[in-house]
Amino acid sequence: MCIDADRLWDTLLKLARIGAYVDARTGLSGVNRLALTDADADGRRQVMAWFGEAGLEVRVDRVGNVIGRRAGRFDHLAPVMSGSHIDSVPTGGAFDGALGVIGALEVVRSLNDAGVVTRRPIEIAFFTDEEGCRFGTDMLGSAVACGRLPLDVALDLTDKHGLRMGDELARIGFQGEAEERLTPRHAYVEVHIEQGPVLAAAEMDLGVVSGVQGISWWELTVRGRSAHAGTTPMSLRRDPGVAVARLHLALDAMARSGRFGPEMRATMGRYDAHPGLVNVVPSRVICTVDLRNPDDDQMARAEAAFAEEVATIERDLQVTIEREQTARTDRVPFAPVVQAIIARHMDALGLRHATLLSGAGHDAQELAAVCPTAMIFVPGLHEGISHNPREMSTPAACARGVEVLYRTLVELAEEG
Ligand code: GLV
Ligand code: MN
Ligand code: MN
Repeated sequence: MCIDADRLWDTLLKLARIGAYVDARTGLSGVNRLALTDADADGRRQVMAWFGEAGLEVRVDRVGNVIGRRAGRFDHLAPVMSGSHIDSVPTGGAFDGALGVIGALEVVRSLNDAGVVTRRPIEIAFFTDEEGCRFGTDMLGSAVACGRLPLDVALDLTDKHGLRMGDELARIGFQGEAEERLTPRHAYVEVHIEQGPVLAAAEMDLGVVSGVQGISWWELTVRGRSAHAGTTPMSLRRDPGVAVARLHLALDAMARSGRFGPEMRATMGRYDAHPGLVNVVPSRVICTVDLRNPDDDQMARAEAAFAEEVATIERDLQVTIEREQTARTDRVPFAPVVQAIIARHMDALGLRHATLLSGAGHDAQELAAVCPTAMIFVPGLHEGISHNPREMSTPAACARGVEVLYRTLVELAEEG
């Protein structure tokens, strides 16, 4: 092995202590480093310190992305890049994003130990607010860096308390001055936990990721009429809670029907009722919709069916439903040439591997717009559960993924 598996695991566990919490109901410990909170800032400062100790030249850009650069023998050549994110969902685990950042750091540390200087520079990054659960849109920092989102749009996003993203970035001391737009890199490779059951079920050591499916996120404001729960006859109600329940069932049925392909997924993960009291019919409910589909045409048809369902519910229940699209990406294919290099290194190490499309969004899908990109998936335990404190992998599985990352990055960094 070129990498140090114990150091990788120790560093992952050290990072997991920042923002750690114990779930009161299950007693499990999870990670909450929601983007641009104090815990995220503490994690950022720790990882930046590790970048510095590894001899990287570190810069922070204007959207808060942090990039560490290791010089190459031909330093003017386009760098090879790796990384991921260290923010988490509020109910996260130790691996989502962190494995990609700490894995890239382990590659740099191992190159330092071996005294290897690659032809091209190597850059490792953690991107701001990949998760998107605070400011409403995912892959925020990498989307700005790669040109899908304008900087001012990102900085002006607000969270559910009305706090502005740009102000929060400044508050935690991470509104940097470096140019945020990335010029084309030579290649980008990201290692990430799979976050699903496929690799473990097929008894695979690792996965080669062929791309990411389409994502469509919406925030809905459903308005009806508030009323007393005990005195208001059912026939006189305009209850936005009922509208949301009906929409949720309709989307679930759509996704299960097969009418939008076998892989359609629909989730309503957030409902906030106002005033949110046991004996009051709510006046409004704010809720979210997350649609995923690997087929762009099927996704477009699903979005049209969702719009029709909304119109029908508005009519039937005499409520109004405002819809705002908060994130939208088509399916992103990864570069076959980078996938082939990754697979070859897996073969050379005697590892069983499968190729799969990612169900989750990743920073790599943004980087794919600026350079040849692919990902390495590491299987998780417990059917790959993720966005949950039970998210778990093994030291050996993580080490395999990062060993392949090392070999892949070195090969790409030696290319002409
Ligand atoms: C990212 O975690 C996603 O929601 O896919
Ligand atoms: Mn992630
Ligand atoms: Mn995630």
